[in-house]
Amino acid sequence: MIIKKARFVTSISLASKYGAAAEGLPGSEICVVGRSNVGKSSFINFLARQNKLAKTSSTPGRTRLINLFSFNDGEFTLVDLPGYGYAAASKSEKYKWDTLIGGYLENSRKLVRALVLVDCRREPSVLDRQMVDYLYSYGIPFSVIATKADKLTRNQLFGSIQKIATALAVGRDNIIAVSAVSGKGRDEVLAHLEEVLRSASETENE
Ligand code: GTP
Ligand code: MG
Repeated sequence: MIIKKARFVTSISLASKYGAAAEGLPGSEICVVGRSNVGKSSFINFLARQNKLAKTSSTPGRTRLINLFSFNDGEFTLVDLPGYGYAAASKSEKYKWDTLIGGYLENSRKLVRALVLVDCRREPSVLDRQMVDYLYSYGIPFSVIATKADKLTRNQLFGSIQKIATALAVGRDNIIAVSAVSGKGRDEVLAHLEEVLRSASETENE
């Protein structure tokens, strides 16, 4: 798949408003989930090849809303969700984010795949495992993306991917390592998304 165009559509602060906001958008949705600061917004920019499409920040907790991005004039929509596990957040903020993320995952009718982002240098956290369990229990298919691959050598990355695979109980072939800095993994991710969208449209037409 070639990304010709990507544009920001809208931000949503309440999951209950999600349906109305997404209504006019054609195409399937793919959402990006993961710990705060793991590189979700950077990942969207890396796919779009636009630095400022999604707002990124070195301070965790940057994305506090559900942000929708339309790719290739409606071929698919990428959904940037707030990160979980932001330590400095207050209890009420955490609650708000959890309901926002959970509300989206449970209510989106066009969601065909979740991309679970994990930092390639870290063991997945309890929250990452909870997210994977949650996706399993709601029957939402997911793929794992290991971010910031530029921070490790080839050998280190190999070892890390194995640890992530074991911790999340997925096959290592189901993990794609990417770097928003070097561009590594972009073609692989796009080929994967093409396959995901193709099989989703086949299921829909059955
Ligand atoms: P929240 O919105 O707070 O949940 O964060 P996020 O997951 O959207 O992370 P974001 O994309 O804002 O990136 C967080 C930090 O990681 C920023 O300082 C980025 O520059 C950095 N970063 C993201 N991707 C990469 C990468 O591939 N390599 C390196 N070296 N840094 C990265
Ligand atoms: Mg973000």
